[in-house]
Amino acid sequence: MALYLITGIGGFIGSSLARALLAKGDQVRGVDNFSTGNRQNIAEILDRIDFREADILDLEAMHKACAGVDFVLHQAAIPSVPKSVLDPLGSNRANVDGTVNVLVAARDARVKRVVYAASSSAYGDTPTLPKHEAMKPDPISPYAVAKLASEHYLISFYRCYGLETVALRYFNIFGPRQDPSSPYSGVLAKFITLMLRAQQPTIFGDGEQSRDFTYIDNAVEANLQACTAPATRAAGQVFNVATGTRFTLNETFKLLQGMTPYTGQPKYGPERGGDIKHSLADISKAEAALGYKPKVDFEEGLRRTVEWYRRS
Ligand code: UD1
Repeated sequence: MALYLITGIGGFIGSSLARALLAKGDQVRGVDNFSTGNRQNIAEILDRIDFREADILDLEAMHKACAGVDFVLHQAAIPSVPKSVLDPLGSNRANVDGTVNVLVAARDARVKRVVYAASSSAYGDTPTLPKHEAMKPDPISPYAVAKLASEHYLISFYRCYGLETVALRYFNIFGPRQDPSSPYSGVLAKFITLMLRAQQPTIFGDGEQSRDFTYIDNAVEANLQACTAPATRAAGQVFNVATGTRFTLNETFKLLQGMTPYTGQPKYGPERGGDIKHSLADISKAEAALGYKPKVDFEEGLRRTVEWYRRS
């Protein structure tokens, strides 16, 4: 039994990690300031976790949170491309300064390993598909720059202080509990909740942009594997976490038509600034070093997610 600290435990990824760890019999401590997370996501596990309402920018709180911890799963972030375009300072504070705080606290507490929620947005719009980790990153939005800068901090903390760190480049993680309610919410949470109410979703651009949409259970599995993989293979490394397949928004819309009561067409609006066009991962590095294999494919993940929103 190990003690895990999850930053951003109120988020949909953080709270999913917490549930998986509790089910495995591990101990969970979590911090969140609820800037993007939601109390509802942890309501039913609150009595089984050590929850502390705190901001990752509060170094003293992070020092306290890291005391006695084996593994840190650093998920806290302002995870939005368009929000970062509007507010680059806010994005930098949460997504870079916050990460450095967590790393300093983890280093001082001598935690075994820090696993970080990095982002596929680091690759930018380079034409090569699929994206592999050896490619030169080319971030577009301030958000992508911040996520990439944090990756470099992780590698630096491994090199300079010997703190074992692993960066997982998430490719559009989706699933139950993802917040659909903000203008910055992920596209699938928005589309599913709208279409379940028979309301029209808006596609930004021509809908031919594609994503390697990755169901949450795959991301959870990757985090657990990143904690236990031998340091010789994982520490100081960056890994894609995805499925290795991609779907356009137009294709995704059609799939959702078959799973929801919405029979109309989507509305098409202007392209969104800072967006990348296509995203598809090569996942062979994570397969070889972490033993990662996506267990739930896109369509099955979509079905499970639609079902969850339908019930809730
Ligand atoms: C997402 C994540 C980001 C993560 C990245 C890589 C969210 C909110 N963002 O960014 O944290 O680092 O994947 O894993 O989960 N779109 C519409 N209509 C809408 C909303 C979006 O057409 O109502 C379009 C967007 O313009 C974009 C695509 O859908 O082309 C995906 O957008 P979004 O879900 O916000 O994700 P990413 O920007 O790819």
